[in-house]
Amino acid sequence: MGVICNPEMVAAVSQAGGFGVLGSAFQNDPEALRRQIEQVQALTERPFGANLTVLNPISAQLAQVILEMGIKAVTTSAGDPTPLVDQLKTHGVMVLHVCPTVDKAVKARAAGVDAVIAEGGESGGIQGVDAVGTMVLVPAVCDAVDIPVVAAGGIGDARGYRAALALGASGVQVGTRFIASVECVAHPTYKEMICQASDTSTFLIKRGGRIRVRVLPTNLAKSLRTDDSGQVGTALGGDAIGKAWIGGDVEAYTLPAGQVSGLVQQVRTVAQIIEEMVKTSA
Ligand SMILES: Cc1cc2nc3c(=O)[nH]c(=O)nc-3n(C[C@H](O)[C@H](O)[C@H](O)COP(=O)(O)O)c2cc1C
Repeated sequence: MGVICNPEMVAAVSQAGGFGVLGSAFQNDPEALRRQIEQVQALTERPFGANLTVLNPISAQLAQVILEMGIKAVTTSAGDPTPLVDQLKTHGVMVLHVCPTVDKAVKARAAGVDAVIAEGGESGGIQGVDAVGTMVLVPAVCDAVDIPVVAAGGIGDARGYRAALALGASGVQVGTRFIASVECVAHPTYKEMICQASDTSTFLIKRGGRIRVRVLPTNLAKSLRTDDSGQVGTALGGDAIGKAWIGGDVEAYTLPAGQVSGLVQQVRTVAQIIEEMVKTSA
């Protein structure tokens, strides 16, 4: 989840029995990624992974650091994973590609990924124009590929987790619910907006080309809701991270979050979130 996915949170997820994934979407310095990996390694001995977005122009250099640091599983997203698959799999690293449609999942399978993450349109952050819901996407992807499928989008509690497994997923990827965690570096105002959200609070805005971003209703986001130009500049990346996501000056920027915000009531520790999610009783 990019910079918002800080080493402390990644380590907490792995410590609690999950598989923490360190983001690198807006990372422009391979050495900074190396230091973040070292930070996670200092906090947990349990396995964790990293995410590479194909859109990042230095993704190949970041992949090299990931290889050097001994990470064994990488999620790839936002583009054709083929070059990264070739680079990573030569060294035995497992690759899971994030797919918003069946078509993309079939292509990722052909590119040689080990698993796909079927990410529905409810999810927070960047996605394509189709916004297929998780409830339809996950079983459709399960039918279309013969490799494990991880469900993402709209999963925030035990009900969502169990539903994902019932749809055929082997596991879940969770974003929004973890932003509203104690360990996440996100500003308290960001966490509070998630906790206060209803089912209809988040919406998709255009970010150029076929890219859409699901966001919370900040003032800027509301003004962009009807803007079709896609010319939103750094309000969605770069500046927004330091000033709004972490800095708390939220209204002049955009805050990615999923529809599942409507189910999130309270900031909790990562361990509490995971324990509640995987509990066996209702
Ligand atoms: C603030 C934010 C940042 C994200 N950054 C990334 C990212 O850098 N790379 C990526 O593959 N997915 C990213 N995601 C998507 C999540 O990894 C996850 O698939 C998604 O949030 C799941 O849907 P949910 O928000 O309903 O849990 C991000 C999501 C959010 C909310």
